[in-house]
Amino acid sequence: MIRIKIITGSVRPGRFNIQPATWIYEIAKKRIDMEAELLDLLNINLPFLDESVPPSQRQYSKGHTKKWSKIIKEADGFIFVTPEYNHGVSPVLKNAVDYLFYEWHYKPVSFISYGSLAAGSRAVEHWRGIAAEIKMYDLREQVMLSNYWENLDENGKYQFNDAHEKSANTMLDALTFWARKMKEARAELQKQ
Ligand SMILES: Cc1cc2nc3c(=O)[nH]c(=O)nc-3n(C[C@H](O)[C@H](O)[C@H](O)COP(=O)(O)O)c2cc1C
Repeated sequence: MIRIKIITGSVRPGRFNIQPATWIYEIAKKRIDMEAELLDLLNINLPFLDESVPPSQRQYSKGHTKKWSKIIKEADGFIFVTPEYNHGVSPVLKNAVDYLFYEWHYKPVSFISYGSLAAGSRAVEHWRGIAAEIKMYDLREQVMLSNYWENLDENGKYQFNDAHEKSANTMLDALTFWARKMKEARAELQKQ
């Protein structure tokens, strides 16, 4: 079974992030072609990177790093749910990514982004450059929520519609396809 891990990109009080993260998790859970898990960085609670040796050396000293490594290693693909902060990526998600190296290799990543008119797309473009360095395969298929605050009900709940769900499933189709292919590729690479 393909294991897809959804990672939140904000831990701020009152964050919007958890809404799209929970929404995509519920959609992913209904599918039979994947096993989805929601990784909320608020609970994972990693400190700012506190390892003395770079992750490419694989000499983890801290319990939280070893635990995070195991969680990411067992995944076949990812969804990063990302805000855009000053036209860049959110520090909490970048920090979580920077902790590890090999664990991300040869795995696909899709994005859900949100923000003003550009819908967080500038943050996603930054993520694509970062993904290349950690040998992730970033997928074109993504979900974008522009001016998300215009689509909240009186309780602050985002009104997802059928078009959103359709683009979410298009993204998940691509993600599982590549996650399967890259799982095979990883097995082949391990044999070498
Ligand atoms: C530090 C900071 C910088 C921001 N910069 C941008 C930005 O560059 N582009 C944008 O569309 N929204 C920006 N915003 C507004 C965010 O889209 C909005 O606050 C969103 O709710 C942040 O996601 P979060 O609530 O999940 O943390 C910024 C917000 C913060 C807190």
